[in-house]
Amino acid sequence: MMTNKDWLKSAGIPFQIATQAPEEGACCPIFFLEGEKKGVLWIHPDNCDTQGQILREASRLLQNTLVPLDPLEGLEHALAAAVKGRLSHVVVDETLFDNEDIFLEDPEGYIRLTPSNLRQALNLMTKKSQVRFIDFSTTATSAQKNKSRKRVLSGIQPSGDMTLGNWLGAVELWKKQIEEYPNCYFFLADLHSLTVAPEPEELRERIRKTATLLLACGLDMERAAMFRQSQLGGVHTELAWLFACITPEGRLEQMTQFKEKAQKQASVGTGLKIYPILMAADIAIYQSHLVPVGDDQRQHLELAREIIRKFNSRYGHTFVVPKALVREGSTARVMDLTDGTKKMSKSSTNTDGCIYLLDSPEDINRKIKRAKTDAIRDLYPDSLERPETTNLLGIYQGLTGLSMEAIIAEFEGQGHGALKKALTECLIAKLEPVRKRYAQYSADPGYVEGVLARGAERVYPIAAETLSKAKERVGL
Ligand code: TRP
Repeated sequence: MMTNKDWLKSAGIPFQIATQAPEEGACCPIFFLEGEKKGVLWIHPDNCDTQGQILREASRLLQNTLVPLDPLEGLEHALAAAVKGRLSHVVVDETLFDNEDIFLEDPEGYIRLTPSNLRQALNLMTKKSQVRFIDFSTTATSAQKNKSRKRVLSGIQPSGDMTLGNWLGAVELWKKQIEEYPNCYFFLADLHSLTVAPEPEELRERIRKTATLLLACGLDMERAAMFRQSQLGGVHTELAWLFACITPEGRLEQMTQFKEKAQKQASVGTGLKIYPILMAADIAIYQSHLVPVGDDQRQHLELAREIIRKFNSRYGHTFVVPKALVREGSTARVMDLTDGTKKMSKSSTNTDGCIYLLDSPEDINRKIKRAKTDAIRDLYPDSLERPETTNLLGIYQGLTGLSMEAIIAEFEGQGHGALKKALTECLIAKLEPVRKRYAQYSADPGYVEGVLARGAERVYPIAAETLSKAKERVGL
């Protein structure tokens, strides 16, 4: 019988022998189904529960002549059949290729190969069969199953004042994710906040305020887990140390955010430089699959993936390699109301450029009234020529969920005044409940602390298990 190694060798496909067991989801068992016509299905274990669906797909392909055989017959058996031309179809679960490495079982352990090499091998070996790649994760049942396995994680720096940018960018997205994914972890990156050396009392107040605000925004933090990074600080920073030891210093110096922040400071703390290492640890320690972040964190996420991959390849598969979910579209970046080329930010010098979630109706009224516009009467977005108008339209779109076409139609024949009026009304209506809830939660600090404590308690076992695995891997 031909082994996996044999056929890979004969096809000239490069591979490695892995000594560590692969992470669930990266191994590649197959279903071998035989009927009057014969087929092989390769599946991703995440989708094992979709057997019924795979069978349906197969019987459609094979025109209902299908009799399933032993589902986990093995790759050799199936490939032998493929090579002999007994197979009419090979169906591959496209989501398998999301993995950094793919593992095949082998008597000596596991064979590790890259997704592109597996693709190549499949095409070579099964020339006579029709190869189809299907993304099973988009099908209803398995999509739900996948979601229930995937962990979503994100962090926010407790700056205290949350802005409209945070709301439209992060909070709205988190809300959706909490509905879709049962395992969402959102934490206050209070250790990261120390990199800019805040006053202790001020930091404490900002942490309290940010946690309260997140709840006030209507995020269901009992379904998700909300906690402070420093509540589990020991495990985050210990893993960060393991990561620091494999991260080239040069990579840290290339980070745009580091360069920008370092420029503004007379003396640069080491924390500012190693910031992305702690971030990589935050992500890896919960075996996070998906990390929703703003555009400005894209580079840090890329570095986190690099560090995690490096650890995995040096010490054996230990961590899930995360994917960034970078916000796109008009709400990805809410710009300053007084300068449409600058990001709306709490550190902006002109406070009228920034709307805070706790702004009073009067504040909102004033800020929108003073917001910069241009001399073109018609309203349409053009981010290069009309950054301010584009920003106002984008904010309105983010708040109402309307399409840009619908918005343009709504204001046809009217100018910026009409848009500003509608925007002001909409903002006041949306932020009113946030202010109310904020007042309620502020009056009950015990509740907010309880949410944080329950969140930390829930995620701690995952972090502790990951850390002890990582320590064992490096020889500690
Ligand atoms: N650096 C992120 C920011 O400023 C916050 C953060 C810290 C984070 N650790 C993280 C985000 C881990 C996602 C994942 O926005």
